[in-house]
Amino acid sequence: MQIAHTKEELRAMLAPLRGKRMVLVPTMGALHEGHATLLRQARELAGAEGSVVASVFLNPVQFDNAGDLATYPKTPEQDMETCASCGVDVVFMPTPDVMYMADRSITLEETHLSTVLCGASRPGHFAGVCLVVNKLFNLVQPTDAVFGKKDYQQLAILRRMVRDLDIPITLHGAEIVRGEDGLALSSRNVRLTPEHRSAAPAIRASLLTASAAYRAGDSASAICAQVRCTLESIPGVHCDYVELVDAETLHEVAEPDRLALLAVAAWFGDVRLIDNIELSRA
Ligand code: PAF
Repeated sequence: MQIAHTKEELRAMLAPLRGKRMVLVPTMGALHEGHATLLRQARELAGAEGSVVASVFLNPVQFDNAGDLATYPKTPEQDMETCASCGVDVVFMPTPDVMYMADRSITLEETHLSTVLCGASRPGHFAGVCLVVNKLFNLVQPTDAVFGKKDYQQLAILRRMVRDLDIPITLHGAEIVRGEDGLALSSRNVRLTPEHRSAAPAIRASLLTASAAYRAGDSASAICAQVRCTLESIPGVHCDYVELVDAETLHEVAEPDRLALLAVAAWFGDVRLIDNIELSRA
């Protein structure tokens, strides 16, 4: 496995790998089993002939909250071990000044899917994600890229970006990886207090209850109210949003036979956790 810290090093390392399938997994580091799953999926897609590139870059431009950026866990040595053990060929690990010019002045904003859910409460977040992912696509020029479905809205927005900008890259969504107790793996889980860590699996449990209620014909507003009430009965927990939307448009469910998405963002103290579940009436 090779590690590139600059764009020039990256170009040189990727040159001999071009012409075959190349699968990119963008990450912000603090890699856990969820990321390892993305990396293994990428390795499988690339096959023995192709290559896997992982980026490890804590992108400051997508953080709307300076405290969240400052406290985001950083585990670079462990990240390199995870990448190596998952069969990554090249890791791109730039610093912010390598990635961004001080006087950068181009922004990249998706204007429909990013107005709701996390986009509504994290202004500028998805513009920062689109900008960095676009730059990574240009720098690496992969044939494919893998993103997790825990960040469902992010994946939907990146699919829209690829579609609307004719980016010749195939995106793959990877299923959410959970702990045995059902909590979706997240780099932020390590920041939970012991009490909130033991209470947090309630998110998944409430989503499963909601899924059954949806199949039984309950209304979107009753389902969302139930999830909110369950989570907010935990001391120190406050829901940012609980919304049931169309899984593709991320706006109000218009037709009952389309796939829906129930998405939750909740503050457990000062740690914001997200999770989601796809729902169908059938
Ligand atoms: O999902 C993430 O970790 C980040 O948003 C991504 C896609 C690596 C862009 O910084």
